[in-house]
Amino acid sequence: MTSGLQRLLITGGAGFIGSNFVRHWLQTHHTPVVVLDALTYAGNRANLGDLEAAFPEQLTFVQGDIGDRPLVDSLLQKNNIDTLVHFAAESHVDRSILGPAPFIQTNVVGTFTLLEAFYHHWQGQGQPDQLRFHHVSTDEVYGSLSPTDPAFTELTPYAPNSPYSASKASSDHLVRAYHHTYGLPTLITNCSNNYGPYHFPEKLIPLSIVNMLLGKALPIYGDGQNVRDWLYVVDHCRAIDVVLHRAQPGSTYNIGGNAEISNLDLIGLLCDQMDALAPDLPVRPSRDLITFVSDRPGHDRRYAMDIRKIHQDLGWSPQVTLEMGLRQTLQWYLNHPDWWQPLLTAAYQQFYQEIYG
Ligand code: NAD
Ligand code: DAU
Repeated sequence: MTSGLQRLLITGGAGFIGSNFVRHWLQTHHTPVVVLDALTYAGNRANLGDLEAAFPEQLTFVQGDIGDRPLVDSLLQKNNIDTLVHFAAESHVDRSILGPAPFIQTNVVGTFTLLEAFYHHWQGQGQPDQLRFHHVSTDEVYGSLSPTDPAFTELTPYAPNSPYSASKASSDHLVRAYHHTYGLPTLITNCSNNYGPYHFPEKLIPLSIVNMLLGKALPIYGDGQNVRDWLYVVDHCRAIDVVLHRAQPGSTYNIGGNAEISNLDLIGLLCDQMDALAPDLPVRPSRDLITFVSDRPGHDRRYAMDIRKIHQDLGWSPQVTLEMGLRQTLQWYLNHPDWWQPLLTAAYQQFYQEIYG
């Protein structure tokens, strides 16, 4: 099956996964990419800095909100976009618990605005088959598993538990409805926990790495036995690429790393790898920094993804093991203090205080 894939609009392309995807796409396909990103606290133009220098003809950055319909309309038309890859979101569960409103605004209303704009763009061109609206979503829409439950499949009913996952589930339903009702050529991927370079230090892995380098406590919620399935971010980017090229419009695919581990075991492994890699740490062994703190309200116990569909239909499977990916990630943070140190702003300290007290 052929598709357009010649002119991409990537929302949230200055965030963690979005910027990794822009990097993957430009280095693999060399076709023009427009990034639309509001540069919230999680967005960082520096994530694209070397790419803007290396691909001045192909990469255009636009600072703006996905909820700004006239802006989105003009970007679609002016650049004759054939593929929209939608990463932009409020993405941190703890922030959604502190204040859900921006999650509804960006993840639900923002996605609706993009869908409307893309639908009219598609209609205006005579509804060509090769256009694509690819919505990047999460495993959290499926809810929580017990230790013995089978992994989530694409048919698992939605049961989101946090304001974040409820907002993502809502956006997934809107995307589904635009395909079902109007025939819009959409794709949805639901992925497990990502980690890797350019990850803002509010999520478990980058926060723990930065805290180890600073000799600060490593906060583990509850009993540390919550389980997540981890995927190296470049594997996620490869999966989206494969779905864009090979999947049928209207389809949904689960993406995961086949790498389930409890938070406590994960951070133990990360500590051991850090001790082996970093010559001078303020505190060693890093495991001495592990500190149990109050649990996250409504904390999902376990996520696990059944990824047989994407493997069987499209031939994708993860290539980077958890041990390899964590080591590469640690090395990247060790090599890039110039990237993460400027992120520890007064606003970051205030957020940290609110969550960890
Ligand atoms: P992130 O928080 O690092 O980046 C989000 C980006 O979106 C930032 O650059 C931010 O500036 C931008 N943004 C936020 N609101 C915007 C708005 N209104 N208009 C334009 N831009 C806006 O997030 P991430 O971890 O890279 O996640 C990207 C997507 O992947 C999200 O949709 C998330 O739900 C999904 N996802 C994330 C993971 C994960 O483990 N991080 C796993 C599965 C799915
Ligand atoms: O599963 C995919 C999701 O993964 C994405 O949709 C989200 O955008 C992304 O943020 C992530 O959500 P999680 O809540 O799973 O990720 P986080 O890194 O915040 O937490 C991972 C686990 O670690 C979770 O069980 C909570 C726990 N945790 C987290 C933090 C920040 C701690 O024990 N201590 C912490 O300080």
